[in-house]
Amino acid sequence: MTERQTNRTAETSADVVILGAGPAGLTLGNLLHAAGIDCVVLERADRAHVRTRARAGFLAANTVRILERHGLADGLHRRGHPHGTCEFRTGNGSFRLDYGTLGRGERHTVYPQQDLVTDLLTHYLDAGGRIRFETEARSVREVTGPRPTVDVREADGRPGRWRARYVAGCDGRHGAARRSLPASALRHHRDHGVTWLGLLAEAPPSLDAVGYAMHPDGFAGHMARTADITRYYLQYEPGVPGDAWSEERIWAALDRRMYTAEHGPLHHGRIVQRSVINLESDVVEPLRHGSLLLAGDAASLPAPAAAKGANLAVLEAELLAEALIDEFSRSDSRALDRYSRRCLDHIWRAQEFAHWMIQLLHAPAGADAESFFHEAMRRSRVESLRTSRTHQDWFAENYVGI
Ligand code: APR
Repeated sequence: MTERQTNRTAETSADVVILGAGPAGLTLGNLLHAAGIDCVVLERADRAHVRTRARAGFLAANTVRILERHGLADGLHRRGHPHGTCEFRTGNGSFRLDYGTLGRGERHTVYPQQDLVTDLLTHYLDAGGRIRFETEARSVREVTGPRPTVDVREADGRPGRWRARYVAGCDGRHGAARRSLPASALRHHRDHGVTWLGLLAEAPPSLDAVGYAMHPDGFAGHMARTADITRYYLQYEPGVPGDAWSEERIWAALDRRMYTAEHGPLHHGRIVQRSVINLESDVVEPLRHGSLLLAGDAASLPAPAAAKGANLAVLEAELLAEALIDEFSRSDSRALDRYSRRCLDHIWRAQEFAHWMIQLLHAPAGADAESFFHEAMRRSRVESLRTSRTHQDWFAENYVGI
């Protein structure tokens, strides 16, 4: 790393500049640093925010294997817990799938993302890894050349510039990497026309399963997070602010849609977080633009109906790390050349399954013939999942698998 002052902008360099300290950026940073690659993570938020931001929490078996492979799984081994059951509730009865015994026989590990990110950050810093908090990347330039630059706003507000051999865009969907893509980059976007109200409740889980309820009033979902925090989702009116519903109205809707009259009450508690989520998906193609490479949400955003986001982020970070290590240690750029294709194969499979789940969980909006047709197909899909072992194996393989 070198530091140099050019007129008013402090210029610094590293072989790999990583934008963003989420699951993608921190997994990549740990793997590159462990391989002796000179890298730095630039993160817009402060340390406290990075360590406490609550988002996903269902780690696929493959993600656990990747983290174990690189000595990053101690925390999830100590505090995570296996999860292998879904419960589908409909007006025509309910059924449970022990997906841990179906498909490849794999389970999720429930481990809140903020705990995973805190583990990755602690491991990275303890190993001597470099990170700059409150450093916002503004743009990535000269990506077609061998020395791309990243213009930043430093923590003290002054402009700065980082020069690199490669820039890893792990700064999410609205980050500087996405904004700096050449016009030739393709962005495949799909709005699924469904909106959820995402909730975190200070209440113990009410089911020992992921609960998916398909009710005439709309979808409702139940996902455990910890012993006293539960994540809920409610299908919601598009365009309505997240704070428009009172807690009473939220719990009344959850009770009704989760068919508690048949299945017993939900544990109520204070709603500590709300977010309105428009179910949309997008994919950037390709994921490499010269010396700029994308991973995680910067590469693709799967709709949150299938818990794929964080799992894709860790998988892509490992593929990118392996490719960069080949490049720096053996000047072998074959894996870098294949990086985009390899990730996109996983990404589109995850997108396909997320789309399938959205169609499964949500009744079509209209009452016209088209909607009736879709609704009849949806009911048949639910029935196949309830009765067909082949469909159950396919579901399990794609639900847990990446
Ligand atoms: N400059 C520097 N950092 C930035 C910038 C920027 N311009 N823009 C965003 N960031 C930081 C954010 O503050 C965040 O810490 O980039 C990080 C991106 O992290 P995530 O959003 O967690 O993205 P990623 O690592 O790709 O993981 C994505 O994890 O949260 C789950 O389900 C979620 O699918 C998602 C997955």
